[in-house]
Amino acid sequence: MARRPKPAAKRPAAAKLPKVASGELLTLLDFVRYATSRFVEAKLAFAHGTTDPVAEAAFLVCETLHLYPDQFEAFATARVTAQEAKAILDVIARRVATRKPAAYLVNKIYMRGLPFYVDERTIVPRSFIGELLDSHFGGEDDDAGGSLIDDPLAIESVLDLCTGSGCLAILASRRFPNARIDAVDISRDALAVAARNVADYGLQDRVTLHRGDLFKPVGGRRYDLIISNPPYVDAEGMAGLPRECRAEPKLAFDGGLDGLDIVRRILDEAGRHLTPQGGLLCEIGRCRPALEAAYPQLPLLWLDTEESDGEVFWIAAADL
Ligand SMILES: C[S@@+](CC[C@H](N)C(=O)[O-])C[C@H]1O[C@@H](n2cnc3c(N)ncnc32)[C@H](O)[C@@H]1O
Repeated sequence: MARRPKPAAKRPAAAKLPKVASGELLTLLDFVRYATSRFVEAKLAFAHGTTDPVAEAAFLVCETLHLYPDQFEAFATARVTAQEAKAILDVIARRVATRKPAAYLVNKIYMRGLPFYVDERTIVPRSFIGELLDSHFGGEDDDAGGSLIDDPLAIESVLDLCTGSGCLAILASRRFPNARIDAVDISRDALAVAARNVADYGLQDRVTLHRGDLFKPVGGRRYDLIISNPPYVDAEGMAGLPRECRAEPKLAFDGGLDGLDIVRRILDEAGRHLTPQGGLLCEIGRCRPALEAAYPQLPLLWLDTEESDGEVFWIAAADL
């Protein structure tokens, strides 16, 4: 089950890092270099919005200074105050000591340039579907001409299954401005975070959150588009999760023995919840071989992103 965030009073103690004398580190860049050295030294894992120690360090330094990530370059050689230096060193130490994803330490993650609130009640958002909504659902405007739909303005209804923090539902609401979005999760904790994000974006009138098991809460309703980033980690993957991921709710990862427990149910039921021209976009991580073996008859279209290869499939309603 998903865990509740720890109250501030129980915040884990920071790691003992090498002592930094006053004036040794001056600029944002100095702190990013220092953090990078500590992160590499501690063999941290990077899989929650950043994929390397330098980007992770820059993210934490910027967040602590209330700067957007893209402002780093402008201020890289600017000095920080003594109080700011203390706050930065504290968050670096907590990242090393707790191994928690950086996003949990600052309660924020950016997806497609948009900020989302996040805490330990839900997985840190990092789905490839965010990028695919931009690259493959723009209609005739898509630069590469690879759109899977004719017109994003014609999409009137979207179902986001396994919504977690609500990030994909919110990104979908921006991609499809005329759509109403139902977002489902079985975790009450995750939905509390999603509700906060939906409210932060003022989308309460367009995004409806439902608690329940996959399609159950939406009855017989049909959608122009179903998107889902369900739990899909197989038993072997669950046994080898990095410490950072063990801070996240197990329910968000666990896909059963071959990773496909939830994916099978989505595939089996999606056809009954799609409009005739609709389609299903679903992320499954490394489960492609197992899925293709289980459904050899399905013409699954595999979509790549900047950092993934064959981890998300699309299937039209007519093929289900
Ligand atoms: C991999 S996370 C994805 C969260 C979010 N969509 C994202 O991309 O960040 C999977 C989510 O599925 C939810 N979940 C697990 N089993 C479910 C079920 N049977 N029905 C609905 N949601 C479920 C978990 O609570 C978790 O929030």
